[in-house]
Amino acid sequence: MAETIIFDTDPGIDDAMALLLAHAHPAIHLKAITTVYGNGTIEDCTRNACYLNQKFGMGAEVVKGAAGPLRRSPNGPTTVVHGEHAMGDVVAPADTPIDIDERPAYRYLCDTINEQPGEITLVAVGPLTNLALALQHDPDIAHKVKQVVVMGGAFGTRGHFGNVAPFAEANIHDDPDAADRVFTAPWRVTIVGLDATHEAFFSSDYLDALKADGGKAGAFIHDVSRFYLAFYSDKLGLDGCHVHDPSAVAYVIDPTLFTTRSGPVRVVCDGPAIGMTLQKIDPFCYADDEFSPHPAQSVCVAVDEPRLLTLYRDSILSLG
Ligand code: BDR
Ligand code: CA
Repeated sequence: MAETIIFDTDPGIDDAMALLLAHAHPAIHLKAITTVYGNGTIEDCTRNACYLNQKFGMGAEVVKGAAGPLRRSPNGPTTVVHGEHAMGDVVAPADTPIDIDERPAYRYLCDTINEQPGEITLVAVGPLTNLALALQHDPDIAHKVKQVVVMGGAFGTRGHFGNVAPFAEANIHDDPDAADRVFTAPWRVTIVGLDATHEAFFSSDYLDALKADGGKAGAFIHDVSRFYLAFYSDKLGLDGCHVHDPSAVAYVIDPTLFTTRSGPVRVVCDGPAIGMTLQKIDPFCYADDEFSPHPAQSVCVAVDEPRLLTLYRDSILSLG
């Protein structure tokens, strides 16, 4: 039986790569795409979601979400990584039909989770604002969601501490308050952060081979990744890119690809380490302890990269 997912996203180059994996794999039923600001404005991210949904016949409902974070001022789109309109050199036409649900994403999330208790997996690969707003609107949804899988955060394994700040990963840095609410809520969260995603790499050769063998989807992944690879090459000296958002989808398909660690997770919401994620893994309850009262969540600390790359390639090729 396929996992029914709602994919909460800021497309986004690697978001597009992840959406194609969710669309391709038979273990996933992509029910809806809820959008959020992040890599681009909410308008660009929503247009990109509609464009991808239509271009590849994904058949998902698209729902527009938050335009900015809960409390702090917006960081603004990451144009240096994802380009002017968030999908690199691929620009969704201005007249792309914006065929979206009339509700804001947080209302859609609450309604759908209540309609299908125990059945919905939330996969969130952008700032966590929509999920936090949904929890605020109806805290009970935490008991009705099957699981939440988040691409975000960095816990310092093998030196992976941050990508947009010394101690923060981009999605969490965009809305630390939302992330802290999501990680401390009484639902089952798995966090696929830089500890895993910086240990998996789509080389430029791998992406060339996807273009050669992967039909329309493979060619699109190649096109959309050109801007991303230029950033990786110019700024990081790497010939390829890390596997961020597709890793969250891969976790839903096959959790055995990842090694996880359990413990409550909090987010630093102010000061020089804003956006830093921390997990308490020792069993002690301290006199001053802002972690222990919260549920233990799972953090991915390692990934089987060869199997992940094979899963991704096989899935894209299966689209024909
Ligand atoms: C995350 O930030 C965004 O730029 C990517 O789409 C991904 O979700 C990686 O840190
Ligand atoms: Ca993303």
